[in-house]
Amino acid sequence: MKIRSPIVSVLGHVDHGKTTLLDYIRGSTIAAKEAGGITQHIGATEIPNDTIENICGDFISKLAIKDLIPGLFFIDTPGHAAFTSLRKRGGALADLAVLILDVNDGFKPQTYEALNILKMYRTPFIVVANKIDRLFGWEVHEGASFRETFSNQAKSVQQDLDNKIYEIVGELHKEGFQSERFDRVSNFASQISIIPISARTGEGVIEVLAMLLGLAQEYLTEQLEIDENAPAKGTVLEIKEETGLGVTLDAIIYDGVLRTNDEIALMLSSEDVLVTKIRSILRPLPLEEMRDSKKKFRKLDEVVAAAGIKVAAPHLDDVVSGSPLRVLSEDTDVEQEILNEIDNITIDTEDEGILVKADTIGSLEAVVKLLREMNIPIRAADIGDVNRRDIINSSIAYDENELHGAIIAFNVNVHPNSEEDLNNSEVKLFSGDVIYQIIEEYEEWVKQKQE
Ligand code: GTP
Ligand code: NA
Ligand code: MG
Repeated sequence: MKIRSPIVSVLGHVDHGKTTLLDYIRGSTIAAKEAGGITQHIGATEIPNDTIENICGDFISKLAIKDLIPGLFFIDTPGHAAFTSLRKRGGALADLAVLILDVNDGFKPQTYEALNILKMYRTPFIVVANKIDRLFGWEVHEGASFRETFSNQAKSVQQDLDNKIYEIVGELHKEGFQSERFDRVSNFASQISIIPISARTGEGVIEVLAMLLGLAQEYLTEQLEIDENAPAKGTVLEIKEETGLGVTLDAIIYDGVLRTNDEIALMLSSEDVLVTKIRSILRPLPLEEMRDSKKKFRKLDEVVAAAGIKVAAPHLDDVVSGSPLRVLSEDTDVEQEILNEIDNITIDTEDEGILVKADTIGSLEAVVKLLREMNIPIRAADIGDVNRRDIINSSIAYDENELHGAIIAFNVNVHPNSEEDLNNSEVKLFSGDVIYQIIEEYEEWVKQKQE
């Protein structure tokens, strides 16, 4: 038996600071490089315990945190709820969560949505009230603990922050949670801790890390025990072409062991199961962000959960992001299990409506969910580039109802052979890599059509 790092999902409304918080911890600047400043894919970052200890200094020893947990394994999620699909694919993927709020902005739609997901899966979480550096009159103390920086603020600033914290306490209460500022919590099992921080200046980050480690040790050690010899289970985050490696997949392994030459089963976009053999397992160096392909990987013969890894194997081209990854075993029918999961993800569609295309299961579900919330009817939702059949079907839909002649395409291209078809048709394409922008443009178009 081994204790693995807890998988910690960072959730919250768009722009409330999820990526910036992880950036601060990593000392990197991934947020600045993202298209539209929005996290479109799900990244994973392992933070080893000694890094946490470096950041926290003697704060950790004061908390009497033992050396049980090897570190924290963070998953950054887009503000738009692909977390739901990750949870469904990966089973109990997140062990802990950080719900992040902009303290000046308060609760927003995706905050409620994240909270509902946490409720549904009973995931233990802390609330982080971010951007305290933007409070009027706040005096920055770079990298300081919250306790220290707070005690050095003017009375009026302290009062202002406390008022904002009480608003959060009130909102959480309406949602059925008891909560308090973390240093006033008397019972960690029944009250949610709220930690005020600035992801930009690092104030309060010490307490976030210490609290997560503490909670994991106190409440999760049993759940984090894994059988190092069991066939691996994981979730595919992304399929990527890598120079010299061909098509690879990035995955999070949350249980068991994965070895070179293992046979693994995966889900294909054609809704079939692929069985393939692992050629190599590559792991980013600790603290490296695995989607940043310029960074170096280390080749491994095997990895034990929890691990974020890249896998090179034949025939990965049509594997779907979000697919389960399972090592074949003699005791269970792994292929059938994956087929059962495929049945669960078919997206319900209406007889009439628009067409949605996206690059991953997670992003497709996220786009569909957003459109549903806006009562936009969806005729079909598929993974992959826009092809000729899509355009023909959309033209037919257009003839019945002009508003249904639209294609929403997230993070996918129009197939080169189909561009002419598209130009010669009445079909209107809304494409890009920022979901909110695509939907805004679509709404604008609908408004014009209706006038
Ligand atoms: P999505 O991935 O798009 O959902 O957003 P996010 O939650 O990851 O937010 P992100 O980290 O991209 O931050 C959004 C903006 O807020 C960026 O311009 C950040 O620099 C800024 N920001 C984040 N945290 C802080 C903070 O503590 N203080 C200040 N002043 N700005 C912050
Ligand atoms: Na952002
Ligand atoms: Mg982000």
